Parts: sequence; structure tokens; C-alpha cells
Amino acid sequence: MAISSTQAIPPTQAIPEHVAIIMDGNGRWATQRHLPRTAGHAKGVQAVRRVVEACGRRGVRYLTLFAFSSENWRRPAEEVSLLMRLFVQALEREVDKLNEQGVRLHVVGDMSRFEPRLQTLIAEAQARTAQNDRLHLSVAANYGGRWDILQATRAMLAQNPGLARDPQRIDEQHLAAHLSMAWAPEPDLFIRTGGEQRISNFLIWQLAYTELYFTDQYWPDFGAAELDAAFEWYRNRERRFGRTSAQLRDGAAR
Ligand code: FPP
Repeated sequence: MAISSTQAIPPTQAIPEHVAIIMDGNGRWATQRHLPRTAGHAKGVQAVRRVVEACGRRGVRYLTLFAFSSENWRRPAEEVSLLMRLFVQALEREVDKLNEQGVRLHVVGDMSRFEPRLQTLIAEAQARTAQNDRLHLSVAANYGGRWDILQATRAMLAQNPGLARDPQRIDEQHLAAHLSMAWAPEPDLFIRTGGEQRISNFLIWQLAYTELYFTDQYWPDFGAAELDAAFEWYRNRERRFGRTSAQLRDGAAR
């Protein structure tokens, strides 16, 4: 079980172990160029490729991308169906390359609303990369942080009905063990492109002590250099996890 940032002090390194990204700005990138919004999503897939490769080379162990939120179903039907087609294409075309790069693919979210063909492709891609351990790439699809906490609560109580009769016994670990990314450490660095400064129901439990980095760049323009700028900013953060700066200095001097 991964270390909880509210229960213990997780180790920190110069390169974040887990990076979580909201890939925002595809639509605006396209509109600026008088292209349909969907062209921005297609371009966004190229940025995904660049960032996966760059993270692998820099030693990031976990990369989690918010590809489709529980709320994105509210978008125009044609945009939703283009996004679904892009997932299918990416799963069909990219899995060999991911395998060569030692990437293990996980898709996290409520799969039940996806077409059976997409569900099958997801299961196959996950199985085919299951032996890899260099970089864990998680694609959050039909994912929402509140959905995750609710499904974890239900799973926890189903596994241990006694907890409902004695709720005082419930601790963080009971619940966290059932979150959809229970196997991963909490993100060290969160990046959101596209200029908005909000979490948008992404990993809301796990972001408790994550460093939050916002950039105005649109996702299709994001690549290795922009990732390095985010890492440079991260390196200069003082991660206190509730302690004071003086405590950190004293610890370092000892
Ligand atoms: C946000 O931009 C982006 C999305 C909702 C979709 C992200 C999807 C991809 C990058 C492509 C598919 C990904 C994979 C992993 C195959 P927006 O449309 O909200 O942009 P806007 O704020 O400018 O309108």
C-alpha cells in the first residue's frame, strides 16, 4: 500500500515519482487556428506521445493523464464520439510502442458506460503491457474523483460489512485501499495546461499534498521542454507536508 501523505512523510526526489496532468486547451488551440475543436484533440494525442516518452527518459515512474472526465459526456455528441475514436485508435496503434518502452498501461474510471469494443480493447491493452514496470501510464477515462471515493466506499463496505455497524473503526487506509489507483503513490506534481486553475474533480483524494503547477500553454503545444520547466519549478518547491520551514532546515542540518 502506498504511503499516505496525511499519515506519514513520503520521500521526495528531484524528479517527481508520480506526475498527474489535466491536458486542457485542445479546443482553444484549434479555434485559434480556425480549425474544428476535434483537430485540437487529434493534435493532443501527439503531445501525449511526447510527454510519455519524456517522462520515461527522465525516470518518472507514474504518469496519470485526465483524458475524459465523468462530466465530459455533457459535450456535443460529435466531440464525445471523436474522443472515443481517438482512444480506440490510440489503443490499437500505440500499444506495441508502449510495450517497447516498458510502459504499463492502466485505464482508470467507470468503464461500464463505454462501448463493449472499447472495453475489450482496454482490457487487452492492459493485459499486454501488464509485465512492464518502467513507467505506469494511467489514462483516466470517464473518471471523477467523487465517483472514485464513492466506489471505494461501496467496495470497502461490501468487503467488510462490519465497518458499517462500527463506523468509528474506519480509517484512511480502509478506504484508500479501494481507490482505483490504490497501487500508486500519491502524485508529487500536478500539471494543468490551458490557463485554468482548478482541479476539476481529478484525483481529489490523492492530491492532498501534491504540488500544483498551472501553465497558460495549450496541451497540443506541450512537450519535453515544457515538462522540464514544470520539473524545474517542482525542484524549487519546499514540500513541508504540514511541518514548518525551520523543521525542514533542522532536519537537513542533522
Ligand atoms: C481538454 O481540452 C481535453 C480533453 C477533454 C480531452 C483530452 C484528450 C486527448 C488529449 C486525446 C486523447 C488522449 C489519449 C490518452 C489517447 P478542452 O477540449 O477542454 O480544451 P478547451 O478548454 O480549450 O476547450
